[in-house]
Amino acid sequence: MAKKFREVGDHPVVVVTGASSGMGEDAALFLNKLGYTVAAGIRQSDDGDELRAKAGQPTRFHPLLLDVTDDAQVDAARDAVEGLLRGGLPFAGVFSNAGVAHFEGDTSSEGTPMSVLQTMMDVNFFGGVRFIQAFLPLARAAHATVVINSALMARTVLPFNAGYAASKCALEGWADSLRREISPLGVRVVLIEAAGINTGLVSQNAATVVADDNPYPGQRAFLHKAFSSMDGRSSDPRCSPRRVSELVAHALQTARPRSRYIAGGGAHAIHALGSLPPKLQDLALERFVRSTAS
Ligand SMILES: NC(=O)c1ccc[n+]([C@@H]2O[C@H](COP(=O)([O-])OP(=O)(O)OC[C@H]3O[C@@H](n4cnc5c(N)ncnc54)[C@H](OP(=O)(O)O)[C@@H]3O)[C@@H](O)[C@H]2O)c1
Repeated sequence: MAKKFREVGDHPVVVVTGASSGMGEDAALFLNKLGYTVAAGIRQSDDGDELRAKAGQPTRFHPLLLDVTDDAQVDAARDAVEGLLRGGLPFAGVFSNAGVAHFEGDTSSEGTPMSVLQTMMDVNFFGGVRFIQAFLPLARAAHATVVINSALMARTVLPFNAGYAASKCALEGWADSLRREISPLGVRVVLIEAAGINTGLVSQNAATVVADDNPYPGQRAFLHKAFSSMDGRSSDPRCSPRRVSELVAHALQTARPRSRYIAGGGAHAIHALGSLPPKLQDLALERFVRSTAS
């Protein structure tokens, strides 16, 4: 996988959402270190102060209150970025990264509460779309790049992931349409499909909350197995958020990026599984769920 990137001397502006932690934080700091002027979306001003204190080039690091479910905050963030551009800086693009994953309790397609499905759609799908739509006029004017943090789960849908997978599949459908519309206008649209990156995204998961008498006997053991397999991620370099930051830098800098990049622990195996005919995927995953229950 190509991952070439360089330091930039003209300090182009890049906007990163969900920069308070995980991949967003790492990407914001990494891009800033490469010379980018970073507008870092956070939801608590304290997070912005802490982040800026870690920035290699703090004068080129601008925390912005940016909840992607909030129209007014998205518009205000775009206005702030327009202000930076009026100062003469070029616009490199956006990294739409903010996301949530709710795996607490029943995560089957039948049992996931509507409120949980709605939250994931609000942040992961509508939030991403709201944010990107707001910045597309700037991206068109600058022939910039839109990088979107999707998930490998959108390609290889594991069972008991109904809400998260659905929100990322929706995002990818929208992004594929966008790419085919806007590529002739000089805007590149890149999806990152990660799996198993070492962040706090699923640290609050509690598979044990799944009721014993739920109608899917494999659910609880499957989720338990899936979450405990994440324990070894912190020491695995493939699971470092930096892998994703490097892909973002590459996507921003290359003239012809791929439409999708994969990253993370087990990503190649999960990607390969998702490339099998659907019937074979079903068989393999049914067998896996059964094996975790026994
Ligand atoms: N970790 C993985 O293995 C993995 C795999 C595939 C895809 N992803 C995707 O990668 C992205 C980043 O996740 P992560 O793993 O780095 O987890 P993370 O550390 O939990 O980061 C999630 C970020 O999203 C922000 N956020 C949540 N709701 C938001 C909202 N309404 N508006 C704006 N920001 C919001 C959080 O901000 P607060 O601190 O304010 O809550 C946080 O900064 C997500 O889109 C996730 O789906 C992760």
